[in-house]
Amino acid sequence: MIFDTHAHYDSGAFLQDRDEILRAVHEAGVGLILDPGCEAKSSRLAIELAEKYDFVYAAVGIHPGDLDSADEDSLLEIRTLAEHPKCVAIGEIGLDYYWDDTHKEEQKRLFRWMIELALELDKPVIVHDREAHADTMEIALDYPKLRGVFHCFSGSVEMARELWKRGWYLGFDGPITYKNARKAVEVLEACPPDRLLIETDSPYLSPVPMRGKRNDSRNLRYVIDRIAEIRGLPPEEIERISTENGLRLFGIVR
Ligand code: NI
Repeated sequence: MIFDTHAHYDSGAFLQDRDEILRAVHEAGVGLILDPGCEAKSSRLAIELAEKYDFVYAAVGIHPGDLDSADEDSLLEIRTLAEHPKCVAIGEIGLDYYWDDTHKEEQKRLFRWMIELALELDKPVIVHDREAHADTMEIALDYPKLRGVFHCFSGSVEMARELWKRGWYLGFDGPITYKNARKAVEVLEACPPDRLLIETDSPYLSPVPMRGKRNDSRNLRYVIDRIAEIRGLPPEEIERISTENGLRLFGIVR
């Protein structure tokens, strides 16, 4: 069974054929999907999908790119949604200085608010870190009890080692299939087997040879094959360990 631990089926990119795609993906062997929200509305949609489909789970949170939406009402809604039984994490949260480097303090405040909610509810976090490695690490490691995943990890092996030491997981996506993926390949080679998660980030980050097209969880096959090649293991083994890791981190019993 394949577990796509990061796919945005709540996205407008799936407005026309969401149910059709989810059924096709499930039939293709993707047994579990985790859909993280990016602000209050998409978090609500993610929860609705989790209610509708037995194999879909949700995370709720406000993405740094949606900082503008973080008013009192939406924070309140996130807090309420977070208590839903199929909400297994707080995410997608973090820092993104590529998108916006003029509101760093506001991004950091929002990130901490979300982390504190996760700790209060004893749930892991799904972290987005784009061109903000130092600050993301500083904040994440400020909370020794915090558990979670650095989604679509783009840091160095040294940074990865710091995270593994503290029990963090790393998520790998389509970009590991790109020709210029040198750093991510190095991290994958060094990754302890019990710290590895696989994700699509659908509808984004399509792997080779689907680059440029809308992504969905069926393309996880290409990510799994590439990881298997890098690690010198059969694809079924990558499938098995990454699913086991996902179930463990997100506390899902199947
Ligand atoms: Ni994402």
